[in-house]
Amino acid sequence: MKFGAEMMKLCLPLVALALCIPLSAEAAAAIVNPAARHSVSLDGKWRTIVDPYENGYYDYRLQPSKDGYFRNAKPKDPSELIEYDFDSSPTLDVPGDWNSQRENLFFYEGTVWYKRSFDYAVRPGARLFVYFGAANYEAIVYLNGEKLGAHTGGFTPFAFEVTGKVKPKDNFVVVKVDNKRHRDAVPTVNTDWWNYGGLTRGVSLIEVPETYVQDYFVQLQKGSPGTVAGWVKLNGPRATQRVTVSIPEAGASVTVSTDANGYAALSFPAKLTLWSPENPKLYDVAIAAETDTVHESIGFRTIETRGADILLNGKPIFLRGVSVHEEAPFRAGRAFSVEDARTLLGWAKEMGCNFVRLAHYPHNENMLREADRMGLLVWSESPVYWTIDWENKDTFANASNQVAESVARDKNRASIILWSVANETPVSEPRTAFLVKLVEQIRAADPTRLLTAAMEHHSEGATATANPVVINDPLGAALDVLGCNEYIGWYDGMPEKADHTTWSSNYQKPLIMSEFGADALYGLHGASTAKFTEEYQEDVFRHQVRMLAHIPALRGTTPWVLMDFRSPRRSLPGIQDWFNRKGLVSVRGEKKKAFFVMQEFYRSKQTN
Ligand code: GCU
Repeated sequence: MKFGAEMMKLCLPLVALALCIPLSAEAAAAIVNPAARHSVSLDGKWRTIVDPYENGYYDYRLQPSKDGYFRNAKPKDPSELIEYDFDSSPTLDVPGDWNSQRENLFFYEGTVWYKRSFDYAVRPGARLFVYFGAANYEAIVYLNGEKLGAHTGGFTPFAFEVTGKVKPKDNFVVVKVDNKRHRDAVPTVNTDWWNYGGLTRGVSLIEVPETYVQDYFVQLQKGSPGTVAGWVKLNGPRATQRVTVSIPEAGASVTVSTDANGYAALSFPAKLTLWSPENPKLYDVAIAAETDTVHESIGFRTIETRGADILLNGKPIFLRGVSVHEEAPFRAGRAFSVEDARTLLGWAKEMGCNFVRLAHYPHNENMLREADRMGLLVWSESPVYWTIDWENKDTFANASNQVAESVARDKNRASIILWSVANETPVSEPRTAFLVKLVEQIRAADPTRLLTAAMEHHSEGATATANPVVINDPLGAALDVLGCNEYIGWYDGMPEKADHTTWSSNYQKPLIMSEFGADALYGLHGASTAKFTEEYQEDVFRHQVRMLAHIPALRGTTPWVLMDFRSPRRSLPGIQDWFNRKGLVSVRGEKKKAFFVMQEFYRSKQTN
């Protein structure tokens, strides 16, 4: 493969992938926009075997067994010894985490084997992939007893090519999913969210032509709202083709010729209605090669900073946001559906939001596409959370791969304006070097969006009457927008401490207060000085919004958190019961008093 400048611009994510994680070739070729392809869902009830000792993978000498559960073996006669049987084993729903589906798996961390049988007649000359929306945390995938490949990371998609491996009848795909936590993993061993395990997002068979439109990037050129720019990548033997990218509604299009690697850069003028929260205009974009055509729904907008301002479509904007975990409303567990997304984003809109921080990992694609449709701007984050193993090169490769897959999946979403590389990571040389490399990787793959991170802050000598806070994290130098988490009034003093807290920064850059808040159990009432009552949480927010209104460079807020969410760090009986209760709404969508403080603050932000 020749590495001209154009190739470098294309291949960086792939190169980063290849360089970072020894993934099998198939996994790296994830397909963007699976919903627009000819596909068959494998969702539904999968047979499962819970395997805490990984007995289905290792022999008693802890060597990978050649006769593991992936064989889905059946005794040929009564004398044959087979000590497992998928088809008489219980089922679990896919998509879905196992912890919230079965009482005895609530705390379970380990291996669960999934098996799904299917028939499928591939069209002559077509190629076939098995596509996973996500599997937490490590997945090894087998088809008809043969290993296809493996994937690490619980929040990004992967696919394996199975062309020529699928029979018309009686196929079975087996997946070993393991969500055990590891010190060198991403995230690492401690998180303030539940380690939901399983095939947490949809699985499907995707059929494409021999040479298909593998990937594309179609956005407005940075700083030029009248020019659409990007690239297209074909995959297959007929790599050199003419490809027309068109926006029929705008009467705009361009035809390019792909090179020997199936790649072509593109740019063309177009008069477009720009996407914004007030008018989330989406266009049908057709990417038509000679052998394959894909339709994509894209909004076009520009996003940039100027000094301490964030400019959407050239105009300063205040990001009225809220932080959101991918926790399912009403039922708890890992959210995954369009309905889950509409409910969560609908509550954010009721609060007056035009922005959401999707914490602390890439959420499911339904969430981003609903944000596009509903007109909510998005902060998307990689799961580099708290203190990971900064000097471990495999840890970096893992983080880099997850970032690359996240950008690859979501780069055409108008809603996403910010890529966040980390949350609350302790300042150190190796940490900052690690994160700066991720920032550079993302900038190379996507020059159109802004880079940020949720950083911690430091008080410079608080007294009873003054609390000067300076944002001076060295990582700030590499970012476009500064994110800062603070818990004044909860972990840090009483609520009124915010009244004498002043904020300054070493950087002339926009600031987003990416976390602030307090726990409250919905319906628990009492004195405003009594922790866990709605009155205490409300009081924290009253002091917060007053403080926030006086921070010069503040251009956005995402209070912690939209909805209560499960956490293994929150065991207080009768109050937390394994939930972080900092939600402004309960899991049932009941609004706590503090919800209305934020609603009022955002109303004031809309008028001025
Ligand atoms: C942290 C962290 C969140 C956590 C929150 C809390 O700042 O980023 O993941 O849930 O604080 O303590 O509630």
